[in-house]
Amino acid sequence: MRLFIDTANVNEIREAASWGVLDGVTTNPSLVAREGRSYRALIEEICRLVPGPVSAEVLATDAEGMEREGRELAAIAENVVIKLPITPEGVKTCARFADEGIATNLTLCFSTAQALLVAKAGASYVSPFVGRLDDVGQDGMELVREIVQVYGNYEFPTQVLVASVRHPQHVVQAALAGADVATVPFKILQQLFHHPLTDIGLERFLADYRAATAGH
Ligand code: G3P
Repeated sequence: MRLFIDTANVNEIREAASWGVLDGVTTNPSLVAREGRSYRALIEEICRLVPGPVSAEVLATDAEGMEREGRELAAIAENVVIKLPITPEGVKTCARFADEGIATNLTLCFSTAQALLVAKAGASYVSPFVGRLDDVGQDGMELVREIVQVYGNYEFPTQVLVASVRHPQHVVQAALAGADVATVPFKILQQLFHHPLTDIGLERFLADYRAATAGH
Protein backbone atom coordinates (compact mmCIF):
# COMPACT_ATOMS: atom_id res chain seq x y z
CA MET A 1 0.00 0.00 0.00
CA ARG A 2 1.30 3.43 -0.87
CA LEU A 3 1.33 6.22 1.70
CA PHE A 4 0.42 9.78 0.75
CA ILE A 5 0.42 12.78 3.06
CA ASP A 6 -2.84 14.70 3.35
CA THR A 7 -1.63 18.29 3.71
CA ALA A 8 -0.73 21.43 1.79
CA ASN A 9 1.98 22.41 4.29
CA VAL A 10 5.41 22.25 2.65
CA ASN A 11 7.30 21.86 5.94
CA GLU A 12 5.23 18.78 6.79
CA ILE A 13 5.73 17.41 3.26
CA ARG A 14 9.50 18.00 3.40
CA GLU A 15 9.78 16.28 6.79
CA ALA A 16 7.65 13.26 5.76
CA ALA A 17 9.60 12.94 2.47
CA SER A 18 12.86 12.80 4.47
CA TRP A 19 11.65 9.59 6.20
CA GLY A 20 11.80 7.72 2.88
CA VAL A 21 8.22 6.37 3.08
CA LEU A 22 6.25 9.04 1.23
CA ASP A 23 4.69 8.14 -2.14
CA GLY A 24 2.55 11.20 -2.86
CA VAL A 25 0.45 14.11 -1.60
CA THR A 26 -3.23 14.98 -1.48
CA THR A 27 -4.54 18.48 -0.93
CA ASN A 28 -8.01 19.94 -0.80
CA PRO A 29 -9.35 23.53 -0.77
CA SER A 30 -9.63 23.54 3.06
CA LEU A 31 -5.96 22.48 3.44
CA VAL A 32 -4.76 24.99 0.82
CA ALA A 33 -6.74 27.83 2.46
CA ARG A 34 -4.86 27.21 5.76
CA GLU A 35 -1.54 28.02 4.08
CA GLY A 36 -2.55 31.54 2.94
CA ARG A 37 -0.52 31.28 -0.30
CA SER A 38 -1.30 31.41 -4.02
CA TYR A 39 -2.82 28.07 -5.05
CA ARG A 40 -0.65 27.70 -8.13
CA ALA A 41 2.64 28.57 -6.40
CA LEU A 42 1.85 26.12 -3.62
CA ILE A 43 1.09 23.22 -5.97
CA GLU A 44 4.24 24.04 -7.99
CA GLU A 45 6.38 23.85 -4.85
CA ILE A 46 4.76 20.60 -3.65
CA CYS A 47 5.31 19.00 -7.07
CA ARG A 48 9.00 19.93 -6.89
CA LEU A 49 9.30 18.37 -3.41
CA VAL A 50 7.58 15.05 -4.17
CA PRO A 51 8.00 13.13 -7.43
CA GLY A 52 4.88 10.99 -6.79
CA PRO A 53 1.25 11.93 -7.50
CA VAL A 54 0.04 15.29 -6.09
CA SER A 55 -3.74 15.72 -6.00
CA ALA A 56 -4.96 19.29 -6.58
CA GLU A 57 -8.68 19.99 -6.44
CA VAL A 58 -10.75 22.14 -8.77
CA LEU A 59 -12.97 24.81 -7.22
CA ALA A 60 -15.53 25.08 -10.04
CA THR A 61 -18.75 23.10 -9.76
CA ASP A 62 -19.75 23.11 -13.45
CA ALA A 63 -18.11 20.79 -16.00
CA GLU A 64 -16.83 23.64 -18.16
CA GLY A 65 -15.15 25.37 -15.21
CA MET A 66 -13.79 22.06 -13.86
CA GLU A 67 -12.28 21.28 -17.25
CA ARG A 68 -10.67 24.72 -17.53
CA GLU A 69 -9.25 24.64 -13.98
CA GLY A 70 -8.21 21.00 -14.33
CA ARG A 71 -6.22 21.76 -17.48
CA GLU A 72 -4.52 24.71 -15.75
CA LEU A 73 -3.58 22.50 -12.77
CA ALA A 74 -2.44 19.62 -15.01
CA ALA A 75 -0.10 22.03 -16.83
CA ILE A 76 1.77 22.81 -13.57
CA ALA A 77 3.67 19.51 -13.48
CA GLU A 78 3.49 15.97 -14.81
CA ASN A 79 2.69 14.52 -11.38
CA VAL A 80 -0.46 16.61 -10.78
CA VAL A 81 -3.64 14.54 -10.35
CA ILE A 82 -6.87 16.47 -10.86
CA LYS A 83 -9.20 16.10 -7.90
CA LEU A 84 -12.88 16.30 -8.84
CA PRO A 85 -15.99 15.98 -6.66
CA ILE A 86 -18.33 13.06 -7.29
CA THR A 87 -21.19 14.93 -8.92
CA PRO A 88 -22.59 14.44 -12.43
CA GLU A 89 -20.42 17.38 -13.54
CA GLY A 90 -17.32 15.96 -11.86
CA VAL A 91 -17.84 12.48 -13.30
CA LYS A 92 -18.43 13.95 -16.78
CA THR A 93 -15.15 15.87 -16.50
CA CYS A 94 -13.41 12.74 -15.25
CA ALA A 95 -14.51 10.78 -18.34
CA ARG A 96 -13.26 13.55 -20.61
CA PHE A 97 -9.88 13.68 -18.85
CA ALA A 98 -9.62 9.86 -18.88
CA ASP A 99 -9.93 9.90 -22.69
CA GLU A 100 -6.95 12.26 -22.81
CA GLY A 101 -4.85 10.36 -20.27
CA ILE A 102 -5.13 13.10 -17.59
CA ALA A 103 -5.00 11.51 -14.11
CA THR A 104 -7.96 12.14 -11.78
CA ASN A 105 -8.87 11.58 -8.14
CA LEU A 106 -12.64 11.49 -7.55
CA THR A 107 -13.23 12.81 -4.07
CA LEU A 108 -15.94 12.94 -1.41
CA CYS A 109 -16.86 9.30 -1.99
CA PHE A 110 -19.37 8.04 0.58
CA SER A 111 -20.96 5.06 -1.19
CA THR A 112 -20.04 2.00 -3.23
CA ALA A 113 -22.46 3.17 -5.95
CA GLN A 114 -20.45 6.38 -6.33
CA ALA A 115 -17.23 4.35 -6.51
CA LEU A 116 -18.73 2.17 -9.25
CA LEU A 117 -19.69 5.21 -11.32
CA VAL A 118 -16.26 6.84 -11.12
CA ALA A 119 -14.52 3.58 -12.07
CA LYS A 120 -16.76 3.38 -15.15
CA ALA A 121 -15.79 6.98 -15.98
CA GLY A 122 -12.10 5.99 -15.91
CA ALA A 123 -11.00 7.68 -12.66
CA SER A 124 -7.38 7.03 -11.69
CA TYR A 125 -8.25 7.15 -7.97
CA VAL A 126 -11.39 7.14 -5.83
CA SER A 127 -11.24 8.70 -2.36
CA PRO A 128 -13.61 7.18 0.22
CA PHE A 129 -13.73 9.44 3.31
CA VAL A 130 -13.64 6.94 6.16
CA GLY A 131 -13.43 9.37 9.12
CA ARG A 132 -16.40 11.42 8.02
CA LEU A 133 -18.52 8.25 7.67
CA ASP A 134 -17.44 7.11 11.14
CA ASP A 135 -18.45 10.59 12.40
CA VAL A 136 -22.06 10.01 11.32
CA GLY A 137 -22.23 6.51 12.80
CA GLN A 138 -21.43 4.50 9.66
CA ASP A 139 -18.47 2.15 9.26
CA GLY A 140 -16.07 3.95 6.92
CA MET A 141 -13.85 0.91 6.50
CA GLU A 142 -16.80 -1.23 5.39
CA LEU A 143 -17.11 1.13 2.43
CA VAL A 144 -13.42 0.59 1.59
CA ARG A 145 -13.87 -3.21 1.77
CA GLU A 146 -16.89 -3.05 -0.55
CA ILE A 147 -15.11 -0.86 -3.11
CA VAL A 148 -12.03 -3.13 -3.10
CA GLN A 149 -14.34 -6.12 -3.69
CA VAL A 150 -16.31 -4.48 -6.51
CA TYR A 151 -13.18 -3.23 -8.27
CA GLY A 152 -11.68 -6.71 -7.92
CA ASN A 153 -14.83 -8.37 -9.32
CA TYR A 154 -14.56 -6.41 -12.55
CA GLU A 155 -10.82 -5.68 -12.62
CA PHE A 156 -11.36 -1.92 -12.66
CA PRO A 157 -7.94 -0.22 -12.69
CA THR A 158 -9.17 2.69 -10.50
CA GLN A 159 -7.08 2.79 -7.32
CA VAL A 160 -8.72 2.98 -3.89
CA LEU A 161 -7.26 5.93 -1.96
CA VAL A 162 -8.44 5.93 1.66
CA ALA A 163 -8.97 9.52 2.84
CA SER A 164 -10.25 11.27 5.96
CA VAL A 165 -7.90 9.12 8.02
CA ARG A 166 -8.19 9.99 11.72
CA HIS A 167 -5.94 7.51 13.57
CA PRO A 168 -3.22 4.89 12.94
CA GLN A 169 -5.76 2.01 12.99
CA HIS A 170 -7.43 3.48 9.90
CA VAL A 171 -4.10 3.03 8.09
CA VAL A 172 -3.73 -0.57 9.25
CA GLN A 173 -7.35 -1.37 8.37
CA ALA A 174 -6.90 0.18 4.92
CA ALA A 175 -3.89 -2.09 4.31
CA LEU A 176 -5.82 -5.15 5.57
CA ALA A 177 -8.71 -4.28 3.24
CA GLY A 178 -6.32 -4.18 0.27
CA ALA A 179 -6.61 -0.44 -0.44
CA ASP A 180 -4.02 0.87 -2.92
CA VAL A 181 -3.24 4.07 -1.01
CA ALA A 182 -3.92 5.73 2.35
CA THR A 183 -3.54 9.49 2.56
CA VAL A 184 -2.59 10.44 6.08
CA PRO A 185 -2.31 13.75 7.98
CA PHE A 186 1.22 14.56 9.23
CA LYS A 187 0.38 14.01 12.91
CA ILE A 188 -0.94 10.50 12.20
CA LEU A 189 2.10 9.65 10.05
CA GLN A 190 4.21 10.52 13.11
CA GLN A 191 2.00 8.34 15.32
CA LEU A 192 2.58 5.36 13.00
CA PHE A 193 6.19 5.18 14.22
CA HIS A 194 5.40 4.90 17.89
CA HIS A 195 5.07 1.93 20.17
CA PRO A 196 5.85 2.23 23.90
CA LEU A 197 7.73 -1.09 23.88
CA THR A 198 10.07 0.28 21.17
CA ASP A 199 10.92 3.27 23.40
CA ILE A 200 11.34 1.09 26.51
CA GLY A 201 13.39 -1.49 24.59
CA LEU A 202 15.71 1.13 23.15
CA GLU A 203 16.21 2.76 26.56
CA ARG A 204 17.08 -0.64 28.07
CA PHE A 205 19.57 -1.54 25.29
CA LEU A 206 21.38 1.75 25.72
CA ALA A 207 21.33 1.59 29.55
CA ASP A 208 22.73 -1.99 29.49
CA TYR A 209 25.47 -0.96 27.10
CA ARG A 210 26.38 2.12 29.14
CA ALA A 211 26.46 0.07 32.39
CA ALA A 212 28.68 -2.64 30.87
CA THR A 213 31.13 -0.20 29.33
CA ALA A 214 31.26 2.34 32.22
CA GLY A 215 34.80 2.93 33.30
CA HIS A 216 36.35 1.13 30.27
O1 G3P B 1 -8.30 15.29 1.84
C1 G3P B 1 -9.60 14.91 2.15
C2 G3P B 1 -9.79 14.26 3.50
O2 G3P B 1 -8.70 13.47 3.82
C3 G3P B 1 -10.27 15.16 4.58
O3 G3P B 1 -10.21 14.60 5.86
O4 G3P B 1 -10.32 14.77 8.32
O5 G3P B 1 -11.24 16.64 6.90
O6 G3P B 1 -12.42 14.45 7.04
P1 G3P B 1 -11.10 15.15 7.10
